Amino acid sequence: MAYLIGVDLGTSGTKTVLFDELGKVIASHTVEYPMYQPKNGYAEQNPADWREAAFTTIRAVMQKSGVSRNDVKAIGLSGQMHGLVMLDKNNQIIRNAIIWCDQRTAQECVEMTNKIGAERMIQITANPAMTGFTASKILWVRNHEPENYEKCRHILLPKDYVRFCLTGEFATEVSDASGMQLLDIPKRQWSDEVLEKLEIDKSLLAKVYESPEVTGTLTAEAAEKTGLLPNTLVVGGAGDNAAAAVGTGVVRDGKAFTTIGTSGVVFAHTSEITIDPKGRVHTFCCAVPDCWHVMGVTQGAGLSLKWFRDNFCNAEKETADMMHVDPYYLMDKAALQSPIGANRLLYLPYLMGERTPHLDPDARGVFFGLSAMHTKRDMLRAVMEGVTYSLRDCMEVLKEMGVSVNDMMACGGGGSSPVWRQMLADLYTCPVKTVDSKEGPALGVAILAAVGAGIYSSVPEACDAIIHTANTQEPIAENIPAYEKYYQLYKNIYPALKEQFKALSIL
Ligand code: XUL
Repeated sequence: MAYLIGVDLGTSGTKTVLFDELGKVIASHTVEYPMYQPKNGYAEQNPADWREAAFTTIRAVMQKSGVSRNDVKAIGLSGQMHGLVMLDKNNQIIRNAIIWCDQRTAQECVEMTNKIGAERMIQITANPAMTGFTASKILWVRNHEPENYEKCRHILLPKDYVRFCLTGEFATEVSDASGMQLLDIPKRQWSDEVLEKLEIDKSLLAKVYESPEVTGTLTAEAAEKTGLLPNTLVVGGAGDNAAAAVGTGVVRDGKAFTTIGTSGVVFAHTSEITIDPKGRVHTFCCAVPDCWHVMGVTQGAGLSLKWFRDNFCNAEKETADMMHVDPYYLMDKAALQSPIGANRLLYLPYLMGERTPHLDPDARGVFFGLSAMHTKRDMLRAVMEGVTYSLRDCMEVLKEMGVSVNDMMACGGGGSSPVWRQMLADLYTCPVKTVDSKEGPALGVAILAAVGAGIYSSVPEACDAIIHTANTQEPIAENIPAYEKYYQLYKNIYPALKEQFKALSIL
């Protein structure tokens, strides 16, 4: 039997999973690390933490499983997108990585739009200038820390820095590179036009591969640190969402998934490129060669619930500890004790600004309608509903673009909550399914690794062999109109506050 490793470099930690060639989990290990927020709207992590977490977790799954290193055929890398890692001439990390949810680059986005032109930017990169994306972060460092920019010889995405530590290669792949805003999305290669207009030297960037292609093999040093053989293949892999798509079998037209991780994403596969002229959703190259995907993003999805848990749910945490269950399990139960609409309480999940549909880094979270009768349960339910309204906003944009969705999967930590899945089914008014594997992105890149190692001949063929549907949650007829009233009100709150968010940001 052949084995594959999937590494998923997330925002809260790196999870590495060893699978057999049929996708069965053999061993799994996670290492967590901090996120630094030196100012409101800033978000950074230390790439050295990612490197050590990758080495530690790969070594741990090998030790736990007892699988022979001769049988591990390939590694796939997945991870948080858009982060900026800068290395100097000795390949040393210059500064902490500025990560995907950082919102400091509004001025640089204006600079990009002025230099490239708003329409041209969408034609080439399939997105308007985005604060979350890598290009504006590169310009920010050039504008604010010229001494660091001067030293920079290599620019890498988070998982591609880990690839460099494993293989010594400066390589990336189309799905993650799409989120740098330097790639020509229709042509799947770096855009000379964008690079020239932004005056970014192409030699700083990594070589671009398709996601299942082999990008290198482990160095002797990495082999020793991970307990694997030096000739173990490392394939391109994919950004976390493109990887989750493969891991849930969303690799053909009509298929879509919703993930509720730190951020929330509504993702649909498209074999033809489709771009929203208003730029409210992202069009990226997907991990299936020559295909694309369209995705809407809610910045603060699972993040909202984690924030609520960490600030207000100490009692639930303690009880959960005693009961040996996850605090989210108890929080789910508590949310169910509040009715649809949370007794007329609404929540806007814009803790880290918002992408779809508002594209507003200054937006912030709101509880709307608080009354003295409200309890923590109502607030909890309002948080879960607010995130779901925001995901419905994403779905509405996909519909408007004519992207057909006839099969919706749910994944990510939040996707494993039956309460949240029911909210999705009721607000999307369609069945929401899960797959029997909970490993989304890690499984997705292990599948890409299996294709790269020649075990399967294509990504869809591998998915047909490996992915199986588990639960299906149908919408509940009487819930649909009940949610619809609140959703319509939710949609009116952001426009009413837009100017106030801006005012708050410059106080
Ligand atoms: C996608 C995005 C997030 C991050 C972190 O555009 O920003 O999904 O990849 O998960």
